[in-house]
Amino acid sequence: MRDLVRSHMTSASPIVIAHRGASGYLPEHTLAAKALAHGMGAHFIEQDVVLSRDGVPIVTHDIYLDSTTDVALRFPDRARPDGRFYAIDFDLQEIRRLRVHERTLVDANGQGAAFFPERFPAQPALFTLPTLSEEIALLSGLDQSRGCCTGLYIELKSPNWHRREGLDLASAVLEVLNETGYWNLPEQVFLQCFDDQTLRQLREELRAPLPMIQLIGENSWDEDSEVDYDYLRTTEGLSYIAGYAQGIGPHLTHIYLGKTASGAARFSGLVDSAHACGLQVHPYTFRRDELPKGVDGFEELMDIFFRQAGIDGVFTDFPDIVVNYLRNTRAAT
Ligand code: G3P
Ligand code: CA
Repeated sequence: MRDLVRSHMTSASPIVIAHRGASGYLPEHTLAAKALAHGMGAHFIEQDVVLSRDGVPIVTHDIYLDSTTDVALRFPDRARPDGRFYAIDFDLQEIRRLRVHERTLVDANGQGAAFFPERFPAQPALFTLPTLSEEIALLSGLDQSRGCCTGLYIELKSPNWHRREGLDLASAVLEVLNETGYWNLPEQVFLQCFDDQTLRQLREELRAPLPMIQLIGENSWDEDSEVDYDYLRTTEGLSYIAGYAQGIGPHLTHIYLGKTASGAARFSGLVDSAHACGLQVHPYTFRRDELPKGVDGFEELMDIFFRQAGIDGVFTDFPDIVVNYLRNTRAAT
């Protein structure tokens, strides 16, 4: 398996991962956004996965439904005491009745302003929430009709929270991969998670023969894991990760630290340290409407991370721009 993984993970050209689909152009995690990303030539397309009450893997970013769907209108009495509508409180047949819209920031009255105001309008809500099986059927169908081989990049969202609610997210995802024939395709599937114990469960207990990516956040974030992200970024932490994973998914700011007084980019050294441990580096997230501090444009962002930092792949809401940049870079060399 390692040899197969190595062939695409060490290819000269970095991989482009469509973050929640082509989410810069269409509402995240809709089949429309995934089809667009496929057409744009993304190498991998991301699925964030949570479970419905009846245990079906659903592709959506939050464990809540209220920031991206009309759940509060359709099921007004189904919020928990904290005011949120949890996917795990709804059966698949109820989730199928929801309509998905562009991400909004929900206020105390359940009203939401667009998170990215320049993107697709928040209304009307035209789309539905796909199951993981449905999304895989779409992407494999497009692979056949377009003659390509697009990868899945699946994130298990809040696995410890799911366990406390009585459901096993890791097993449910692997069951879908088994049913759809992706279980044994290490060239075409990455599994990613913020929780180290879940990745170890996938590798050691569930024997998943697929490359794993340890996502790295900040300890101050409310991530569903006991892991110490400051430790994971140390040499010792990276060696620990190399025991069960093939790469890391850090935030952009874990790599790029801003600029010197003379305008040169400053770096943390994380990419070199990870490479020294045999780990690939796929940071998140390239967004033209949310650039890191001191970066003036998307082209400069790509230059900093690809030409200077030497990353192996990237999550982006704008896969077309990154695919074209890498094609032009290759053509020029
Ligand atoms: O999975 C990589 C990146 O997507 C992590 O952040 O919050 O967008 O899932 P998030
Ligand atoms: Ca994700």
